[in-house]
Amino acid sequence: MREFQDSRRAPVRLVVLIVFTSMILTGPGAEQAASAEVQIAVPPPPMGWSSWNSFSNTVDAKIIIDQANAMVARGMAKAGYQYVNIDEGWWRGERDAEGNITVDAQAWPALAPGERAGDMANIVRYIHHLGLKAGIYTDAGMDGCSLVPDLGPVYKHVGSEGHYEQDFLQFAKWGFDYVKVDWCGGDKEKLDPAVQYAEIARAIAEAEAVTGRRLYFSICNWGDNSPWTWAPNVGGAPADIWRTSGDIVDPIVAHQKHSGRLASFPGVLSNFDQGIHPEAQHTGFYNDPDMMVVGMPGLTDVQNRVHMSLWAISAAPLLVGADLATLSDATLATLTNPDVLAVDQDSLGLQGVKVASYGDGLEVWSKALSTAGERAVLLLNRTGDTAPITVHWSDLGLTDSSPASVRDLWARKELGSFSSSYSATVQSNDAAMLIVHGGEGKLTTYTPVGADDMHKGQKLSIANVSSRVPVARVRISYTNTDKAPRFEELWVNGQIATRIAFPPTGSDNTPGAVWIEALFDRAGANNVLRFSPISGLEPRIESIAVE
Ligand code: GLA
Repeated sequence: MREFQDSRRAPVRLVVLIVFTSMILTGPGAEQAASAEVQIAVPPPPMGWSSWNSFSNTVDAKIIIDQANAMVARGMAKAGYQYVNIDEGWWRGERDAEGNITVDAQAWPALAPGERAGDMANIVRYIHHLGLKAGIYTDAGMDGCSLVPDLGPVYKHVGSEGHYEQDFLQFAKWGFDYVKVDWCGGDKEKLDPAVQYAEIARAIAEAEAVTGRRLYFSICNWGDNSPWTWAPNVGGAPADIWRTSGDIVDPIVAHQKHSGRLASFPGVLSNFDQGIHPEAQHTGFYNDPDMMVVGMPGLTDVQNRVHMSLWAISAAPLLVGADLATLSDATLATLTNPDVLAVDQDSLGLQGVKVASYGDGLEVWSKALSTAGERAVLLLNRTGDTAPITVHWSDLGLTDSSPASVRDLWARKELGSFSSSYSATVQSNDAAMLIVHGGEGKLTTYTPVGADDMHKGQKLSIANVSSRVPVARVRISYTNTDKAPRFEELWVNGQIATRIAFPPTGSDNTPGAVWIEALFDRAGANNVLRFSPISGLEPRIESIAVE
């Protein structure tokens, strides 16, 4: 095995090649800045509830009030759930003469003295007074999904095309904090999602500038046109999520015509698998494998627990689809386990990756956490038989030389200290979820030569980069003295670029650090990382460190 050095303890022997516009400079890597740098917390994935899975287009103010109340009364708000998201069905596609959205006054009545029926600001005020946040829904096209409705009548023109500025400003003025933008109309018209969602992100930014309200952006085009390649920072969005697949299940609405539908565990696994794009998930941008079906008809308590584990290890948005008013105690415990939620919400914001597999279906997944030496680990058994699964510290990027402590997150119990590996017997279609805390593995640091001159809008390339693993964590040290995040594109070996957010670091003297995961598809020390400014306002990159 090749030797990698921890440059905090020893000088790095690798030669670092910097391509700085047309100049080529070489020099030794060094980690002068690393000891002083501050790890920057990035926005976590959103947590909340969405009306679609359990209410389809029957949604109205009464349902939203009941669900918001239940989110508080059942302790979910205390556990961290905050968004109450109104999905399709709230609007019938009607507008006034000026093109403003008009809504049904009976479905959305006045809720307090002085309010006007048919004003969506009423329900937003209700949600806000509980200390929660409110989400709304539209489509990027002219029509929405209710041309082929799951329940209820057909409504045309339930989309925002032609009204982007007007509608997103309206959502912000109503007080909404979150908007999900679907793609039924866009798909029907064969629009380009990368173009439309960029336009929408710009409309959102304008609405935010007018109202001073942040409107969180949720892209829902089911993975068409590989949104992970264009969605991070699309149209300048400071944080966003994008769906990576279709719906896990169509809505299951009690006492309605499809009430006999069932969610399925293979459907959960399929959406999980389709959601894994670690190279795109960083610095506040998240893959979204769909609203959860935890607690819905069709899944056992064990399957609910595995589902929750899968979403948490991948740092997926945690949007509950079940009816909160009728959750069983077991489901509630699954949704609110603080150790598991902390994995999902960890401030590095990285997605778990599969680090080992045995035969067909015994898998070890690992997610790096913000505490040095800590990994969340999932031992997943997809086979039909009970089997032992072993996680080796070396597979987690931890040192073999020191023992690691192991905690079982579902039992909420310390299991002890183990040297080099841990094995658990895992039942068929079950998973063990652990925190392993050991000695942090070594990173190799690459420092740009001539960094003082480096940040004048030129491209910055670092060549001869090697990594121990194909999907490697990269820590980027930088400074951004601005008050807002700055963004850069990163190409690894000429793959499609990803846009990285660099939040403010405050002073110029103390660098901050954010983490990404990059696909190193070249063996040996042949990988090239190229950073490129998006606008004239880029961060100043001090160094990168690679696992
Ligand atoms: C699509 C989305 C779902 C939901 C429905 C509403 O299918 O993927 O999440 O919003 O539309 O019709």
